[in-house]
Amino acid sequence: MTQFLSDEVYGQLSPSLPNDEFYMTLALDEASKGRLTTRPNPCVGCVIVKDDVIIGKGFHPKAGYPHAEVFATNHVKEQGIDITGASVYVTLEPCSHTGRTPPCVDMLIKERVGRVVIACADPNPQVAGQGIIKLLNAGIMVTLGVREKRARALNAGFLKAMATGLPYVRLKMGISLDGRIAMSSGESKWITGQMARTDVQYLRAISGAIITGSSTIIADNPKLNVRLADVDLPIGKTAIPQPNIVVLDRSHRLDTDDDYVVFQNSDGLIWRDDLVSLLKTLVAEYQCYDVLVEAGATLTTAFLEQGLIDELVVYQAPCLLGATARPMFLGQIDRLSDKLDFTLTNVERLGDDIKLVFVKRHDKLSTTQS
Ligand SMILES: NC(=O)c1ccc[n+]([C@@H]2O[C@H](COP(=O)([O-])OP(=O)(O)OC[C@H]3O[C@@H](n4cnc5c(N)ncnc54)[C@H](OP(=O)(O)O)[C@@H]3O)[C@@H](O)[C@H]2O)c1
Repeated sequence: MTQFLSDEVYGQLSPSLPNDEFYMTLALDEASKGRLTTRPNPCVGCVIVKDDVIIGKGFHPKAGYPHAEVFATNHVKEQGIDITGASVYVTLEPCSHTGRTPPCVDMLIKERVGRVVIACADPNPQVAGQGIIKLLNAGIMVTLGVREKRARALNAGFLKAMATGLPYVRLKMGISLDGRIAMSSGESKWITGQMARTDVQYLRAISGAIITGSSTIIADNPKLNVRLADVDLPIGKTAIPQPNIVVLDRSHRLDTDDDYVVFQNSDGLIWRDDLVSLLKTLVAEYQCYDVLVEAGATLTTAFLEQGLIDELVVYQAPCLLGATARPMFLGQIDRLSDKLDFTLTNVERLGDDIKLVFVKRHDKLSTTQS
């Protein structure tokens, strides 16, 4: 149940039909095409179906461009097909407010579609159920929650930020079989192979900000930028937006005038306050809804101990670095019952390395996020 929808609105929703999951899966595939380019906007896809035939599809390619529903509706019109009475499958509740583009619900009402199937409601305070209510008031059937889990995963950052004011935080670590992230000297290039390092480029590309620590900057002078080719979209060739880079440095060891690569990037920022304020600031002032932590064990441990990590992305290489190498986690846990537990959500082989994705178990790692 979505909190901002009243029981009265829920009572007016229509049950899902047998083919809904199939068409919504296609709409989610459409939405995924914008994954690297839409931020800070969410990825949204749309498929329009009439008499069990797909007559239009589209996705939101980039902030400032039309929404998925507009691309899909235009696709129908380009073919000279009558859209009246059609079913519209859209992965996020259609907008009801005027942003950089006019409200999509008004367009759907004007086009006299018969039914709108939505994967998940939009917690953006400017929408928050108003799109659904407007459609219902116009006599359009609305079904909600079809393939909602996948739709939520696609826009984890946007949905969390809109609902809580905090971003979705991923922690990336390249580790050895014995859980080490660097040698005692600080040397850490490279523990994992090329495929794992290329995969990290995608993690960076979906992130509005990358957070690291001053020690990592001093030890490695990393670029932390996205080095992927431009992408072809229906609107033309588009560069993937670069994330903001935030370096934590409470002891003032760094200055943005320093000759490190991250400060040559105009979006490099030094932060000296606490971690929760940083995360709130990234959402409120920088519209960074997905954040990636790429740091050493000190900062990684601080994020983990404060319960600020939503997702742990571990690239594990088939090597042992030994007891003097630096461990991935510096926390002191005395009793087994106090261990930090995660749920494994994905395993993938990348060359000789393994990518493991975990989400936190909310009962344990959630002390400071309320
Ligand atoms: N294998 C991998 O995936 C990987 C990734 C990144 C880095 N590394 C390696 O890790 C090593 C560096 O690790 P490290 O542990 O020394 O440093 P680090 O974690 O990268 O950075 C430490 C910095 O974070 C700040 N910090 C720590 N806790 C904080 C908190 N609660 N609030 C705000 N700021 C906080 C510290 O602040 P203060 O200024 O107050 O001390 C310090 O400046 C390097 O050798 C690097 O190569 C490995």
